[in-house]
Amino acid sequence: MTIQWFPGHMTKARRQIQEKLKLIDLVIELIDARLPLSSRNPMIDEILQGKPRMIVMNKADLADPAVSQEWIVYFKEQGHAALQVDAQTGTGIKDIPVQAKLLLKEKIDRQLAKGINPRAIRALIVGIPNVGKSTLINRMAGRNIAATGDRPGVTKAQQWIKIGEIELLDTPGILWPKFEDQNVGYRLAVTGAIKEEILNVEDVAFFGVKYLVQYYWDTMAERYGLTEKPQDIENPNEIVEVMEAVGRKRGCIVSGGHVDLEKASLVILRDLRAGKLGRLTLESPY
Ligand code: G4P
Repeated sequence: MTIQWFPGHMTKARRQIQEKLKLIDLVIELIDARLPLSSRNPMIDEILQGKPRMIVMNKADLADPAVSQEWIVYFKEQGHAALQVDAQTGTGIKDIPVQAKLLLKEKIDRQLAKGINPRAIRALIVGIPNVGKSTLINRMAGRNIAATGDRPGVTKAQQWIKIGEIELLDTPGILWPKFEDQNVGYRLAVTGAIKEEILNVEDVAFFGVKYLVQYYWDTMAERYGLTEKPQDIENPNEIVEVMEAVGRKRGCIVSGGHVDLEKASLVILRDLRAGKLGRLTLESPY
């Protein structure tokens, strides 16, 4: 479900998260490992008001493992705890409580020194729509608690889910992505985080294909049996030729024998999102 964010929604989302900050020790900022910057909220530092934060890169199963490693290093250099998970299968999620304890170690040690037995670490998951918040909560809880799909503004009684030594709020904080930068919009649309209908589907596929030609040509060439790599990726005609070649291979033909570029675009985007074009990341830190 795609949310239309208006300034009023943003203010409300921000206020809802800030109210919850009072209840918790730690924020788990969930981002998409395929687009670690574009899937972040532009005001996240300001919104979280210095709360200890762990950056969890989700959908790592779909991302390029080598680039994910670079991102982990990048986030750690910025002083954040960072790790990658696949919330759908649960890979990596055991590390979340471990990292949470490490992150709050000083505070816990101080309490212990004063003879206070520290209570469970309380955490809140925040992230933009579709990043996998509900999937992660359900996976961590081992049962279905959070409904997938987002409805900003709909509130319900909050509960804590006890997971080992941490307690997680069952309702995640929903944040908005950055809209001003058109490339951010395209990256989000390519991965399906926002519906491509908001943008033009052919433009979205064009953006994706251009990136694939540049960074993941071999996988794409193999999948679609392509033989001619574009020489000049800045020449739009050469990218469109690749899209047409895919369309021809996939039978996306209209009367007169022309390629139906919209259909071809949908084929490419569907394959890309399902991981059929290999594990790929659409932005790199260095
Ligand atoms: P949200 O609460 O943050 O909005 O996200 P949600 O959990 O609903 O997850 C959005 C989609 O992402 C879901 O697909 C979910 O299965 C998928 N997903 C979540 N985590 C992972 C992951 O680690 N790896 C992969 N590959 N997929 C993940 P869906 O319900 O099928 O939605 P859609 O595919 O119809 O968009």
